[in-house]
Amino acid sequence: MSDHKPGRLVVISNRIALPGQTSTGGLASAMQATLQERGGLWFGWSGKVSNNEKLHRVSHESVDYATFDLSRQDHDEFYAGFANRTLWPLLHFRLDMVDYQRSHLDGYMRTNALFADHLLKLLKPDDILWVHDYHLIPIASMLRERGVKNRIGFFLHTPLPPAALLIVLPKHRDLLETLASYDLVGLQTARDLRALEDYFLYEIGGTMRKAGRLRAANGRRFRAGVFPISIDTTLVAQTAHDAESLEEIEQLHNSLEGRALIIGVDRLDYSKGLPERFRGYAHLLERAPELHRQISFLQIAPTTRGVVPEYRQIRKDLERSAGHINGMYAAPDWVPIRYVNQSFPHSVLTGYYRNARVGLVTPLRDGMNLVAKEYVASQDPENPGILVLSRFAGAAFELPDALLINPADTAEVADALERALKMPLKERQWRWRAMMNVLENHDINTWRNGFLAALADVQTEPVNSQN
Ligand code: F6P
Repeated sequence: MSDHKPGRLVVISNRIALPGQTSTGGLASAMQATLQERGGLWFGWSGKVSNNEKLHRVSHESVDYATFDLSRQDHDEFYAGFANRTLWPLLHFRLDMVDYQRSHLDGYMRTNALFADHLLKLLKPDDILWVHDYHLIPIASMLRERGVKNRIGFFLHTPLPPAALLIVLPKHRDLLETLASYDLVGLQTARDLRALEDYFLYEIGGTMRKAGRLRAANGRRFRAGVFPISIDTTLVAQTAHDAESLEEIEQLHNSLEGRALIIGVDRLDYSKGLPERFRGYAHLLERAPELHRQISFLQIAPTTRGVVPEYRQIRKDLERSAGHINGMYAAPDWVPIRYVNQSFPHSVLTGYYRNARVGLVTPLRDGMNLVAKEYVASQDPENPGILVLSRFAGAAFELPDALLINPADTAEVADALERALKMPLKERQWRWRAMMNVLENHDINTWRNGFLAALADVQTEPVNSQN
């Protein structure tokens, strides 16, 4: 029997949620839950731009937080540049939007090295390092160069496109081969894992002895696996139940005057398929006049990455589109779309989900999409709503009992909305039960424990063993 305690968990991500901060995006909320449960250190960008090079440290309950500011140049080249104008569109299959500049790649590498230098000062020999997302792909190789021998895992929250798309990125090999410096690379779905395996096997001369056991051309071995991220299902269900007593929920409920609510909640990002979603809704209004005044669509879309031009553009496009639809169909006593550009506390959102007959989640591509899962977990078991879900969200792999649609097909979106709005209670109930079973069996704890157990397992292999 071993009484060996697992080492401290060190989570490394660009965006972190400091104590008391409301986080947007799946990554921060998932890591908040993970660290609160297990304790450890969370290291990342402070969210501020300045020339202050010092680390900021705070502790809250069992979690230590260490952050640092980015200089203007690093922010522009690393965050607003290579991460969000090159990698983000590439990883979301949007080659048309990829902006590649050599200076941005240099800034990305330089800032990853800065993360590594800061982190080095905080590390202990037994620490288990867990790096998150596309901002920090090369950090493990930089830590290895600096002598770090700890177990290091990486989880990609976004999709990974097929190798044929990845190779469009100039110098793709310099970046992607560094994934081999991790001990374990986690992906959201089997499709993403296949893309990684194909890339290493067919594009850069790696080998694979068994599924998920890869060797890079430089000889370094690593493992890769599928770990679909999830939510704290029990907590979300309880929060939604308790939210019924909140003033905000009562206000929404009263404002609906018995109309069926359709809800969408997304960061204002072009990958979320919002213009297509609005067109799908307009299509429904056009062909189902009997639904006018009977329904209301609430789209919540807090602005993110406002420094990136493509995000400013999508905001303008959506304002125009919402205005156009309301102009066409609104009546003195009815507004078809309520388009709200702000964020809400998590508890309020779960209450909104519970009051919505339809959850409309239609990204063009999405790593997982935790809104889809939270919508399901928030429902009233006696009278659940229906999830209309893009087949291009990672969540579609786990939730086949949602109404799955292709978001580019506006008629299909309209069909699914109509079907959901008219669906009998019995069907809503069995669909909801099937989805809820999945989420109860696979929640945020299963995800975290599964990943960390697999990472610890890699540790037991003799360092020099052959594949
Ligand atoms: O969940 C995906 C993700 O890209 C995270 O990596 C990121 O932190 C989050 O969305 C929000 O984006 P940002 O950090 O750019 O505000």
